[in-house]
Amino acid sequence: MKILAICGSPRGKNSQTKALAAEVLKAARAQGADVDMVDLSEAQIEFCRACEACHQKPGCVLHDDANTILANVLNADGLVLASPVYLNQVTAQLKTVLDRSSHFVHCMRLIGKYLAVVTTSGGGGGAQVQAYLKHYGNTVGAQCVGGVDARSPLKPADVAAATALGKALVTAIQTKQQYPDQIQKIELQKQYFRKLITLRKDDWPYEYQFWSNQDWL
Ligand SMILES: Cc1cc2nc3c(=O)[nH]c(=O)nc-3n(C[C@H](O)[C@H](O)[C@H](O)COP(=O)(O)O)c2cc1C
Repeated sequence: MKILAICGSPRGKNSQTKALAAEVLKAARAQGADVDMVDLSEAQIEFCRACEACHQKPGCVLHDDANTILANVLNADGLVLASPVYLNQVTAQLKTVLDRSSHFVHCMRLIGKYLAVVTTSGGGGGAQVQAYLKHYGNTVGAQCVGGVDARSPLKPADVAAATALGKALVTAIQTKQQYPDQIQKIELQKQYFRKLITLRKDDWPYEYQFWSNQDWL
């Protein structure tokens, strides 16, 4: 079982969010998972150019770290999305990666995978960032097992919550846990994209072929 964390803080080793995400991974590793952390402060990632090439054929016209990161997401069973709250949202670093994953949305590439969310803030606002990242997860087909939201600096209770989250993520993957409300949301998303992909099959031939190969049309 592989679990990948992506941390959107620009603060590298000083990041409280990264430290909290590392506790989630530590707990997952103790349960036998193979874990890895992507620190976006060390990555080179350009903005999506909205060229739509990723809908037409596999891959991206840009050649930077986003391609490797997204390939590793596809290879993982579980994903941890971690971000500090910046002006009530995820950081630009994490949003840039999410924008580059637009093909994941069209083809719901994370169906069958599980997500956990980590946020930290100075004074609050984590709930809406948690909700946003859970929504992103459902949009790409993943079910969210939950999240940990902390105010900096981290306290022992935050670390305990992160440990519990790491265990819950592993259990969800092992047992193929089903969250009926999220399954319903994912199914609605699938209905929407089934129509759109069919309507735009000439614009997005790769994605139409993907849906066809999955027998989803
Ligand atoms: C540009 C910027 C915007 C921020 N916006 C918010 C905010 O809207 N609400 C809040 O509570 N904290 C805000 N903070 C504080 C960070 O969320 C907080 O310090 C966080 O724990 C930093 O995480 P890190 O150590 O992983 O980088 C902001 C910090 C920066 C630098």
